[in-house]
Amino acid sequence: MFLTAAPEYHLGMLHLHSTSPERWLSQVDQNLNVILIDHAHCEQKAASTAMHLMFEYVENEELRDEMTEIIAEELEHFHMVLALLKQRNIRFYKLKPGTYGRKLMELCRRQEPHKAIDRLLIAALFEARSCERFVLLRDHLQDSQLSDFYGSLYESEARHHATYVRLAQSYGSVDAVNCRLEGLAAAEATVVADGCELPRVHS
Ligand SMILES: [Fe+2]
Ligand SMILES: [Fe+2]
Repeated sequence: MFLTAAPEYHLGMLHLHSTSPERWLSQVDQNLNVILIDHAHCEQKAASTAMHLMFEYVENEELRDEMTEIIAEELEHFHMVLALLKQRNIRFYKLKPGTYGRKLMELCRRQEPHKAIDRLLIAALFEARSCERFVLLRDHLQDSQLSDFYGSLYESEARHHATYVRLAQSYGSVDAVNCRLEGLAAAEATVVADGCELPRVHS
């Protein structure tokens, strides 16, 4: 069973080929604290991804400017999740990563400019899936503090998604980038359908 998309956005806007399965919300319900800890890691990882992209493609002025903004915003999200953990007396610790990121990165082509396109589009899909799931959490969680928290976060992830897709177009034609995005999004939907037994934001 797949969940219904919330009305504020549609899957097409996020270029996702599927909504999340109900199985994921059961993982959330049974492991809420671990999901929150993983969420902190995700924000930290999102800042790190943007930092790596900035170093790699520093001559691209638009990319450089956008990455500095995204790094700052993701670190702000990281601080917000850490504060939430602290307030709830949940210890932050290193978690074994789920399989989602590795499976997506395996799809990244090795030669430039394809590599740049793929890295940016994979980052875009990460943001899109986070956005979709934050809306699901907002609507699903009974805890009003958490529900409000996720309601306040999803828009920035949708914006990051759009930024990464636009930046990918610095390295290929709009048609070539869209075609690749469709292919990667189809693969992403398969990764989500296969799932991961570890409870994670992207499992
Ligand atoms: Fe974020
Ligand atoms: Fe983001």
